[in-house]
Amino acid sequence: MKGESIGDNHEIEVFIVCPADAIERGDARAFSLSRIENDGANRPFPIVVGRTAGNHFYGYVNRCPHDGVWLNIGSGEFFTPNRSFIKCGRHGAMFELESGLCISGPCNGKALEPLAVAVIGSDVCVCGVKLVEDDQLADLFDAADETMDIMIHPD
Ligand code: FES
Repeated sequence: MKGESIGDNHEIEVFIVCPADAIERGDARAFSLSRIENDGANRPFPIVVGRTAGNHFYGYVNRCPHDGVWLNIGSGEFFTPNRSFIKCGRHGAMFELESGLCISGPCNGKALEPLAVAVIGSDVCVCGVKLVEDDQLADLFDAADETMDIMIHPD
């Protein structure tokens, strides 16, 4: 993972998480990152980044709003069997893919904490969160140019 700031007056932290093609359409992947807090401390920052069948990327903090556990606890699976909803592996709460809203289960009406996710060049990036960098990855950001396709979620 590699971070970069973009923008002139309002700089946004942008961190490459993985190549976009590392997540199949209709699938999701978990990442265990570290976030740099305002006090300078590093804290665990588990996230899930998914890709809809329609090729839209989304991201959430991987933490159920009801009990705070990883959504893919247990089986490692993020989805209901038909892959229409994200689900909590422990209690079965169901969340809409694109809004993160819980529509069934103990946290009905609450929502997952959204992440701003952008596809820049061929990489999926998390924006607006200061993360600890992994210097093992090449600086792929330099390869991006003016033609980069940026999609921010949520709108
Ligand atoms: S931890 Fe929230 S539904 Fe399981």
